[in-house]
Amino acid sequence: MEMRNIYLPERAELVRVEKLTETERLFEVMLPGRRDLGHQPGQFVQVSLYGIGEAPISLCSSPLAQGTFQMVVRNVGNVTAALHRLKAGDYVGIRGPFGKGFPLEELWGKDVLFVAGGIGLPPLRSLINTLLDGAYRPKIRRLIILYGTRSPAEFLFGEERKAWESRKDVEYHVTVDRPAVGWDGHVGVITTLLPDLALDFSNTVAVVCGPPVMFKFAILALHSKGLRDEQILLSLERKMKCGVGKCGHCQINNIYVCQDGPVFSYARIRDLKEAIQ
Ligand SMILES: Cc1cc2nc3c(=O)[nH]c(=O)nc-3n(C[C@H](O)[C@H](O)[C@H](O)COP(=O)(O)OP(=O)(O)OC[C@H]3O[C@@H](n4cnc5c(N)ncnc54)[C@H](O)[C@@H]3O)c2cc1C
Ligand code: FES
Repeated sequence: MEMRNIYLPERAELVRVEKLTETERLFEVMLPGRRDLGHQPGQFVQVSLYGIGEAPISLCSSPLAQGTFQMVVRNVGNVTAALHRLKAGDYVGIRGPFGKGFPLEELWGKDVLFVAGGIGLPPLRSLINTLLDGAYRPKIRRLIILYGTRSPAEFLFGEERKAWESRKDVEYHVTVDRPAVGWDGHVGVITTLLPDLALDFSNTVAVVCGPPVMFKFAILALHSKGLRDEQILLSLERKMKCGVGKCGHCQINNIYVCQDGPVFSYARIRDLKEAIQ
């Protein structure tokens, strides 16, 4: 088997760039020869731009989609701003996929509850679309998606969410933090969707991703529904450099988020002070 150099970015073509919101763009990426990236939901890649730098970005497409993969990038700094200036036909460097993704086998036979806040939806979308595939959907029981953003202007994946909403085998609930003109749906932070949700708490796995401030409140709300720490999976973000467990940038005590995560059960990280804000 060919051994890849984990430090060597591979030149990959942007085949589609789509503006999703004022700050987020979707990038569809093709490796040379349309080779599959071979990722698992929950993993990330290091995206580099020559002369600018590198940033870890989650894979937001299902591994079942072949030939290309997708990422959603929020424009927050050097690399991400430069990425936002690119268009279809331009090239980026890709290293990866890296990290441990979601443990699929632990979901089989369970109700799976997604709690996605804002930019937390893209990494979960990779898992959601995998589980919605005909080969995987029968392996789980309920599939519940809770999605929240600050305002309707920040919603991602409009058409796709409509499709989730119309499926009988998906329970989809959406909220925005504050009232907004033209919005007649639920208002309140994402955890306000939980009290009215009937859950079989002993047989549910919650999968949580969102801004750092959300985690603590989501965990409290899930505990109040009867879920144990082992039943809560979180996808964490940390400052990273190498992405492969060598430089220590992402270290929290004895854990390297890039290599041991970014997906962790809450039981694994609850005693690490800095893991959750
Ligand atoms: C596993 C993982 C997955 C991720 N997935 C995604 C994803 O799917 N999509 C996504 O958009 N992001 C994702 N991120 C986050 C992304 O990697 C970071 O936002 C990254 O830092 C962006 O790189 P940058 O060079 O654009 O930003 P940087 O230039 O490094 O800036 C990062 C932050 O620092 C602040 N900053 C920059 N310069 C200054 C300054 N001079 N003074 C004060 N503050 C400053 C910026 O405002 C910003 O908040 C992920 C991170 C991890 C670890
Ligand atoms: S980013 Fe280098 S050890 Fe994790």
